[in-house]
Amino acid sequence: MKILVTGGTGYIGSHTVVELINAKHEVVIVDNLVNSSKDVLDQLKEITDRHIDFYEIDCTDEKLLEPIFKNHQFDGVIHFAGLKAVGESVVMPLNYYHNNVLSTIVVSNLALKYQVKKFVFSSSATVYGDQEVPFVETMNLLPTTNPYGETKAMSERILRDVAHANKDFKVSLLRYFNPVGAHESGLIGEAPNGIPNNLMPYVSRVAKKKLEFLSIFGNDYDTPDGTGIRDYIHVVDLAKGHVLAIEKLKDSIEVYNLGTGQGVSVLELVHAYEKVNEVKVPYKIVERRPGDIASSYANPNKAFKDLGWKAEKTIFDMCKDAWKFEKHYQEK
Ligand code: NAD
Ligand code: UFG
Repeated sequence: MKILVTGGTGYIGSHTVVELINAKHEVVIVDNLVNSSKDVLDQLKEITDRHIDFYEIDCTDEKLLEPIFKNHQFDGVIHFAGLKAVGESVVMPLNYYHNNVLSTIVVSNLALKYQVKKFVFSSSATVYGDQEVPFVETMNLLPTTNPYGETKAMSERILRDVAHANKDFKVSLLRYFNPVGAHESGLIGEAPNGIPNNLMPYVSRVAKKKLEFLSIFGNDYDTPDGTGIRDYIHVVDLAKGHVLAIEKLKDSIEVYNLGTGQGVSVLELVHAYEKVNEVKVPYKIVERRPGDIASSYANPNKAFKDLGWKAEKTIFDMCKDAWKFEKHYQEK
């Protein structure tokens, strides 16, 4: 298939581009580079030994984006482009609603206009809110605690309505749990600007002594060791889920959790990281972070049943690959 990947120079998008090419698909990337760099294209070339068409375009700009649809006949779109910093979304809600919701409207509108039949969307486990774990696709969406989460829930609703109104337009909504790790080459990975918000990149910076210690946000949750539980998933497993989702998409609207089904606590992750990489990660227990929930993990059975997809990599693989990327490519 010929597939448009929006946000394809970003963290999850770049890993998915590699897996699409491994599966013999043709890829075109659109990204406005607001949270990624053109250097990723060189790394992708080194990994895949392919030239990949790239357009630096904002997906909210229908006029600029339309010629890309006109000039390439896409079989499918994977729409990753979006802003993703939860805290920033609270401070700048309009940026988030504008960028994330409008880009979904613009990209799906052009997909319809140019008869692209398959559309895969990056959603998030955050749409489940704080319900009983494990989260399963049939649960109701609960209001989230931040504008970022709302943009995901809104985009899901919009795409559902579009799929219902257009019988040849098929949509897959993928709800990711906590993507971590990096490509085994160490050439691409998660490279947040400034001080990371998320646990794994923060742990990597502490291990590298760029930051003094990790603050663990609370050890009084109702979990076995009191720290928060999440379902960390290796980004390469996640990327492979996208390939299967687009290849096997057949219903009008499909929804899948992409997680391992295993809950891992903050302390367990820290200890796994120290053990597998033989490094020290000093930490202090501090106050809970506002908006965090105690536990989030997937029931991933539906993706296995329908797509034959299952996460293969362990928490040790995730920590090992995150460290490899940090050591070699994060010299800043
Ligand atoms: P990322 O920031 O690394 O990648 C997103 C890419 O989209 C970036 O390269 C950015 O430059 C680009 N982009 C943003 N707005 C754009 C626009 N208007 N036009 C064109 N390009 C634009 O983030 P990621 O972690 O790879 O996330 C990819 C998608 O998955 C996002 O939609 C994100 O919300 C979603 N998601 C991420 C996580 C996570 O924890 N990483 C979890 C759930 C869902
Ligand atoms: N944590 C710390 N210290 C830190 C950072 C995080 O203790 O410095 C803890 C958090 O309290 C939480 C766990 O580590 O218990 C994971 O936190 P992350 O910030 O890495 O991830 P979240 O689960 O909060 O959120 C992530 C993404 C969201 C996405 C969600 C579900 O940031 O965008 O996963 O997919 F919606």
